[in-house]
Amino acid sequence: MIKHDIVVIGGGLAGMRAAVEAAERGADVAIVSKMHPVRSHSGAAQGGINAALGNREDDSPENHAYDCVKGSDFLGDQDSIEAMADDAPRQIIWLEHRGCIFSRMPDGRIAQRPFGGAGSARTCYSADVTGLVILHTLWEQLERFGVKVYEEYFATALCVEDGIGTGLIAYNMRNGELELVNAKATIFATGGLGRVYRKTTNGYASTADGTAIAYRAGIPLMDMEFVQFHPTSLKENGVLLSEAARGEGAYLLNSEGERFMFRYAPTKGELASRDVVSRAEWTEIVEGRGVDGCVFLDLRHLGREKILERLPQIRELALDATGKDAIDTPIPILPGMHYAMGGIETDGWGATRIPGVYAAGECACVSVHGANRLGGNSLLETIVFGARSAQHASGYIKNLGDVKPSTKTLQSEQDRIDGILARTGGERHSQVRKMVNGAMSDHAFIFRDEANLKLGMDELRQAREAAATMTVQDKSKTFNTDLIGLLETECLADIAQPIVLGAINRQESRGAQARTDFPARDDEKWMVHTLMRYKGSTTDPEPDYSRKVVVTKWQPSVRSY
Ligand code: FUM
Repeated sequence: MIKHDIVVIGGGLAGMRAAVEAAERGADVAIVSKMHPVRSHSGAAQGGINAALGNREDDSPENHAYDCVKGSDFLGDQDSIEAMADDAPRQIIWLEHRGCIFSRMPDGRIAQRPFGGAGSARTCYSADVTGLVILHTLWEQLERFGVKVYEEYFATALCVEDGIGTGLIAYNMRNGELELVNAKATIFATGGLGRVYRKTTNGYASTADGTAIAYRAGIPLMDMEFVQFHPTSLKENGVLLSEAARGEGAYLLNSEGERFMFRYAPTKGELASRDVVSRAEWTEIVEGRGVDGCVFLDLRHLGREKILERLPQIRELALDATGKDAIDTPIPILPGMHYAMGGIETDGWGATRIPGVYAAGECACVSVHGANRLGGNSLLETIVFGARSAQHASGYIKNLGDVKPSTKTLQSEQDRIDGILARTGGERHSQVRKMVNGAMSDHAFIFRDEANLKLGMDELRQAREAAATMTVQDKSKTFNTDLIGLLETECLADIAQPIVLGAINRQESRGAQARTDFPARDDEKWMVHTLMRYKGSTTDPEPDYSRKVVVTKWQPSVRSY
């Protein structure tokens, strides 16, 4: 049995930030991750991290908070949003003091660029590789504190004894053994769920593992219907081309060469919030002003020098995938699945309804993004709430004695894995994944309506039935990627339904949920969060609307850009 005071599942930015915070507070903390931490998808984050640093007179944490509330289409909990915006400057300085290399203004202060939906230029950055730079900074801190990392361990279940979290069960991918990981506090930091869609900006590892495990253990998922489609993903392969490009002044063009965004967002144009820009692009494409199903990101007027200094990675990514050089050619792009606003329900400290169990980063729903996240707030959320969850967990464990090892859960997980390996004749997991991806991409995309969503729900029911029969061809114990693929597909199949059911039930348009049959926002009825509870592997989840949106300062008002 592995034993630590605090165990963090996931080694991306939220996970490492949580682990470093716990270590600084003197806790015995470890990370369990299915990959090496610096390979986490956080490393693909490009454009930056928001904080009202005080570099500009026109900015303040309060302005930042207001932009988030408006960006969230008034669904974000305002107490948590204010906590995030207030803590942001401190966290940037914390990172800087630990060696994070931010881009600079000529006078040496941290440079900040404009991002969508923001009232001021408040996105701190490291060229267009910000996630990677922060990831390496945190990795150095893990090394500094000697935090133990159980790498290539795939978490399969949460342990709960007498109503409190007691750790997890993890599958050691190197030797095929299941391990009981006993912990007084467990922090989920497993990232996003992008692979539930056919095309996504997310890496192959973004398969909602932690989200599914927490959900199966009885923790509700919150606001899952809100899925962000990033306006600029590469047409060829779905890879992200950062919003930083538009922040630095790039244009969006349609087939007529028109900068169409000003017809949709007269004040902000290309720098409206992401839900607005993605809907505009899709409308252009559907109404025949796209080219081969896409529109264009045009950087040419920025000039070679600026592109190479501030946006070198996206130029390379576009060049590799399309053969087109952004220095002299517009790049074909379209909206692509990018981010889950919903996730494991937590309070403002990352605590779930099970004592001793926390969630932080994209897998969590705190909720600071509500119905639409602003660019640059994802990295911020990982850092702020990674730290806050570890801070809370460190207090929680202080007077707690040893917690009971969940030998029962270990045995039931062993039986489950043995059962999967022994199964013959069922569906291949690659086929089930295609079913899930098809249901989501064809029926729960940018514009939604009840009839189409219900078709998606039916397809997901079939996918979940097929998922219960999934088999592997590889029965071996050493690096059985066939088995890991199956377990990941089970997670995707489980978390897809709350997204679609949430979208069916929410009969309004708010943020990223655009219902063509209910085009208006309905504040009378829908200033509530959607909670979904797991009801078994082939039963539909149970919705609950008892959690109201927290409003501190800003009543819902008309949202325009
Ligand atoms: O466009 C981007 O660089 C993405 C940033 C984000 O999702 O926050």
